[in-house]
Amino acid sequence: MVLKEIDYQGFRNLVDSRLEFAEEFNFIIGENGAGKTNLLEAIFYVGFASSFRVREERNLINVNKQYLRINARTNRKNASVYLDSDNKKLTLQGNDVQRISDFVGWIGMTVLSIEDIWIVRGSPSRRRSFLDWTMTKMSPSYLADLMEYRKILRQRNKVLQSADEIGDLGLLDIFDQQLMQYGNRIYEEREKNIPALKRYVASMSAHFGLDNVDIDYESSCPGMRIVQDILTEVRQKELMFGQTIVGPHRDDLVFFMHGRPLKYFASEGEERAVAISLKLAEAEMLSTKAGDRPLLLLDEVAAELDNKRREILLGLLKGQVFYASTHAPQFTEMKQQRRCKTFEMKRGEVEVSTTN
Ligand SMILES: Nc1ncnc2c1ncn2[C@@H]1O[C@H](COP(=O)(O)OP(=O)(O)O)[C@@H](O)[C@H]1O
Ligand SMILES: [Mg+2]
Repeated sequence: MVLKEIDYQGFRNLVDSRLEFAEEFNFIIGENGAGKTNLLEAIFYVGFASSFRVREERNLINVNKQYLRINARTNRKNASVYLDSDNKKLTLQGNDVQRISDFVGWIGMTVLSIEDIWIVRGSPSRRRSFLDWTMTKMSPSYLADLMEYRKILRQRNKVLQSADEIGDLGLLDIFDQQLMQYGNRIYEEREKNIPALKRYVASMSAHFGLDNVDIDYESSCPGMRIVQDILTEVRQKELMFGQTIVGPHRDDLVFFMHGRPLKYFASEGEERAVAISLKLAEAEMLSTKAGDRPLLLLDEVAAELDNKRREILLGLLKGQVFYASTHAPQFTEMKQQRRCKTFEMKRGEVEVSTTN
């Protein structure tokens, strides 16, 4: 898929404009605070109707405006997102779309960010979030299941917390059924995709000189299934904690190199390489699934890489790329070969754009 153009109004600090993109490389260059990440976020927002960096979407609306709107046109489709303090409206091919799960993934995108190292280094919730995004992109029904699962979790936890007072454990039986139903759908989808993830992460990280990188899916439920026996087994503990302690929301990914857990010995450079490999693996999975390359949005990713790894990364980028950085990268050779455009940003404004 190629994003031909977007136009936006009222999005963060971006000055309302319309931009036409190059089919291959789009460099977004500007000082800190210029609005580079905001522009990537705007592209992502019109693809997924959510942000890759904030939960509270109202923050996306420019502080001096009442609403935001983004229209996007690819080589095949068009879509728009509108948001004000009460409403969010999504359209696809000019038609209103009611459910977000019918909207996400109309255009494939993978975001690579300097923050991705935290997927490898940070808490399990970072890895689950990566996994949930990847699965959502692979199958929009995953998002619908996940949203339902989270709702059930909240209700079930409430019952667990107040069980003493109302003493109505019968309710728990109902929630157990629902938890198993939706939790197992999530498990099935993850189970289906983990082998490809492992394969691609291994091959991508090999490009960075890391051999035998592997991933273990650590499940809180044996065999990646929630069954009544497990729920019965942990019931007392759950009542004690007031929390649902088994299910896909408690699982984790563990990274290995040569059979040893990465987190105990990997250097920062190696962790970054694995994080990038995870995102490139996602892009490969989406590409295989859709028969079409996702857009790659890179936010300062190359900044912390040594020259060698930076070159390797650039060589691995396929499809349409949006590359945000404080400095234009030095790879004139590639620029000559590919269709590029450079967007220079200052205070939310795209000042100059040059095509090659
Ligand atoms: N809702 C908003 N309205 C106006 N400005 C905003 C809004 N949200 C963020 N900004 C501004 O956007 C700027 C940051 O832009 P960002 O894209 O993160 O910069 P960078 O080029 O460093 O990636 C900051 O100056 C911030 O104050
Ligand atoms: Mg930024």
